[in-house]
Amino acid sequence: MKLFADLKILYHMALKPVRGKDHAARLESFYSGQADNYDDFRNRLLHGREELWQALEAPQDGTWIDLGGGTGSNLEYFGDRLSTLKKIYLVDLSPSLLKIADQRIKAKGWSNVETVEADATRFQPPCGPVDVVTFSYSLTMIPDWFAAIEHSLSLLRPGGMIGVVDFYVSRKHPAAGNRRHGWFNRNFWPLWFGSDNVFPSADHIPFLQRHFKPLYFAESRGKVPYLPFLRAPYYCFVGQKHEKSA
Ligand SMILES: C[S@@+](CC[C@H](N)C(=O)[O-])C[C@H]1O[C@@H](n2cnc3c(N)ncnc32)[C@H](O)[C@@H]1O
Repeated sequence: MKLFADLKILYHMALKPVRGKDHAARLESFYSGQADNYDDFRNRLLHGREELWQALEAPQDGTWIDLGGGTGSNLEYFGDRLSTLKKIYLVDLSPSLLKIADQRIKAKGWSNVETVEADATRFQPPCGPVDVVTFSYSLTMIPDWFAAIEHSLSLLRPGGMIGVVDFYVSRKHPAAGNRRHGWFNRNFWPLWFGSDNVFPSADHIPFLQRHFKPLYFAESRGKVPYLPFLRAPYYCFVGQKHEKSA
């Protein structure tokens, strides 16, 4: 049964052509056939998500926006802290994934969580500046990821937090203290993930470090299902909006 579910996911990830006239249509073309089995497979591929959620505070009566939140599985990592938040917006462009999120929210009775079908580079919450914005493996899928980060800066209150976990590759000559990936990793992962419109970048980390005060940063590697000898590089970043930012 699990093998069958994996084969279905692998078909959508490796073989099925992704079609669509715009980004939202291409995402839905990619996700609609795999939404039901998304969580199990991605639990084995998308590492560091729990680490990110544990590294972030859930402020009492605060507002949190998860941009590119998908099925909402990361909300499970809040545990009891979820109820301390006033509001959580789960924003995504894929209706199929949001449907799974809505089922989860209903089953768990999370009355403070709302799903929104919207673009992460444009979503505006009705409440004004928010406390926390997260991107979990969504930046690599957002073509204008720099616009998404700049938009999150405008959504956050001064002193608010951003949390990002995602695949990446290092620059050929990274800043002192950062990991350096060799030629194979710098070239293989963008090629491998690129067929699914996932674009690991060497520029996320410098861009985040330039726009936010870094509070937590870790670089690691994680297993990839059915690629036994390889480990995909990922990073986890928590930053704070400078108090004097607009
Ligand atoms: C790899 S999935 C990660 C989902 C979820 N955050 C997780 O950790 O399981 C990437 C998500 O980003 C969403 N996404 C991509 N581009 C987006 C955009 N411009 N606006 C909103 N969501 C977007 C996709 O629909 C998808 O749900």
